[in-house]
Amino acid sequence: MEITCRDFGAARDGSKVLEYCLHNRNGMRVTVLDYGCTVTSICVPARGEMIDVCLGYDTLEEYEKNDGYLGAVIGRHANRIAGGRFVLNGREYCLARNDNGNHLHGGLRGFDKYVWRSRMDEQGLVFTRLSPDGEEGYPGNLELSVTLSLSDDNAMTISYFAKTDRDTVVNLTNHTYFNLAGQGTGNVYDQQLQIFADSFTENDAACLPTGRFISVAGTPFDFTSPKCIGEQIDMDDPHLHCGNGYDHNFVLRGEGLREAARAYCARTGVGMEVQTTLPGLQFYSANFLTPRAGKKGSKYAPREAFCLETQLFPNAMECRNFPSPVLHPGETFDHKTIYRFFEK
Ligand code: GAL
Repeated sequence: MEITCRDFGAARDGSKVLEYCLHNRNGMRVTVLDYGCTVTSICVPARGEMIDVCLGYDTLEEYEKNDGYLGAVIGRHANRIAGGRFVLNGREYCLARNDNGNHLHGGLRGFDKYVWRSRMDEQGLVFTRLSPDGEEGYPGNLELSVTLSLSDDNAMTISYFAKTDRDTVVNLTNHTYFNLAGQGTGNVYDQQLQIFADSFTENDAACLPTGRFISVAGTPFDFTSPKCIGEQIDMDDPHLHCGNGYDHNFVLRGEGLREAARAYCARTGVGMEVQTTLPGLQFYSANFLTPRAGKKGSKYAPREAFCLETQLFPNAMECRNFPSPVLHPGETFDHKTIYRFFEK
């Protein structure tokens, strides 16, 4: 892996932003900003061409708005927390409410809206940040590190570490929008997806998990065998109505680092395999990706990409039967997700 770096301009608050580029021996390239640890392109070799499978923007100004969180690392707590509040050790914490009275993706200024410290070492590209006690309402000073690397077998690995000095909640993910036919090439209906999950967590109309688990068997959520994303997306199914398509947390089989999902585009021959140590995977078919301009003259619209956000289950402080997102002093939040690209 070789890493190069260039200037990407200055953020609104004057801080300088860097764009890193990770290259491997096969010519695969991944670009990442220190602003939000944002993945801005993933160029994969397939059938003699380079295909950029990641949606993004050309300018920092667009990333500073970034409605939709394109490519960014999400924290302190990914996805929704009901009512923007939770109770920990008998005390109520009120968080920023930025989604119909709920808390979404870390609040008004989540981890995606900060310039992180960055350095290159033998592990790859290391981003660090201290999220202060009280940020967006969360307790505890949280020390974070996110490492990104690219191997010669076309695997982009994102490793997440966090430590706290007080009990807090942590749930980190990455919000890259993938289109394996190439960014800006239209909807992803004919792209195949397989998810190694037998159930998903039910959502209410506001996309908040209720605490119930639903078996995928016999439903449009059955991705246990490869299926085109568009095949059943518009079926008359009550769970699909919440979120206007797929926007659900799948309960992954097994534990430890294992395969979570696999996607494939027959048009380009690009495949992607996702492995993670995390228990959940938010499969989001970009239903809320309102029409907008993307990089290099591309145009994006709903369902023209998909996100596979590895995570702890959303709303887990309310749904006490879910794995706990609480992190105590002395413990480490230590998780890893690998996106490996292949050609078939
Ligand atoms: C997803 C979430 C969606 C939507 C999107 C951002 O992770 O599940 O409901 O909020 O992020 O637009």
